Amino acid sequence: MTRILAIETSCDETAAAIVENGQIILSNIVASQVELHARYGGVFPEIASRAHIEAIVPVIEQAMREAHLGFSDLDGLAVTHGPGLAGSLLVGVNTAKGLALGRDLPLLGINHLEAHIYAHWLQAEEEEQQDPENQKQAAGDLEFPLLALIVSGGHTELILMKEHGQYQRLGGTLDDAGGEAFDKVGRLLGLPYPGGPSIQEAARDGNPKAFRFPRAWLDNSYDFSFSGLKTAVLRVVESYSDAPGGRLLSDLAASFQLAVIDVLSAKATQAAEEFHATALLLCGGVSANESLRATTIERASVPVYYPPPALCTDNAAMVGACAYRRFIAGERAAWDLDVIPSLRLV
Ligand code: KG4
Ligand code: ZN
Repeated sequence: MTRILAIETSCDETAAAIVENGQIILSNIVASQVELHARYGGVFPEIASRAHIEAIVPVIEQAMREAHLGFSDLDGLAVTHGPGLAGSLLVGVNTAKGLALGRDLPLLGINHLEAHIYAHWLQAEEEEQQDPENQKQAAGDLEFPLLALIVSGGHTELILMKEHGQYQRLGGTLDDAGGEAFDKVGRLLGLPYPGGPSIQEAARDGNPKAFRFPRAWLDNSYDFSFSGLKTAVLRVVESYSDAPGGRLLSDLAASFQLAVIDVLSAKATQAAEEFHATALLLCGGVSANESLRATTIERASVPVYYPPPALCTDNAAMVGACAYRRFIAGERAAWDLDVIPSLRLV
């Protein structure tokens, strides 16, 4: 049995979790800073790192308490060391180093993007499984190669996973990340931050065909581009004298949302076929989007899996799941483990 305490502070969530054998979540604490950043309409880096400093110790203490464990019950300590905001990552990395040194525990540095993929190996609580038909629970069931679509606030990556830890990058965004597009358009529409969940809500009663927003297909490539779409929404918003509300707001939200998920789901399902993936894994904050899930399932010829919403957005349990594979492979970080804000997966 391997129990890892994992720490995640790459953006605006201070998180700690204890994960057993890369699958079983013994505790999973997330302190969100959303309210602190909402008034700025996005993450304010200075405020984020200060908030991490205030939250990190209580969050770790709560994770230990809820798992009913002491430090001597742990086998290792894992921390996200990139990609992310430098000042935020530093809080997690320095805390993890101090704890590992003080408690004589092995330390692992984890890539945040890889961790988003490993959320798929975590066992979801039964009540969290929204759609058991399309939700694979445990690790052992997934066979390689797998196609992972990672869409978060900072990244959009299409990745072929050939084995544990073996990745081929098929494409990624050339400008805005998928989640960033949701957040920026949310702001344009006057919706609360973060834009993703707000747009999903506003789109519920809207007509996704009301506005024909552009899709950047970027022929013969698995790359993405969302900045033109954002500008197209801006033009429509500017053509009205008042801020959009009511029916117009719902139609704009639904039409924008469809434009994003149309391209994401089309490219992901095409890549899954071309590379003979056994399944398609939706990863990262935007994979919480119900419409993205439904459309991808409809289009894919292979099973489509997605974690429960709380494991799609930033959390430390996914870091613990990822760390387990590296831990059993004998990987350990040196004491000079540093933050790498622009760390890549491949
Ligand atoms: O993975 P994540 O929590 O943090 C990063 O690593 O960036 O992703 C956050 C992003 C935000 O842009 C947020 O608007 C988006 O995920 N998001 C959603 C939904 N829930 C969160 N986007 C669309 N629909 C959602 N339901
Ligand atoms: Zn993330």
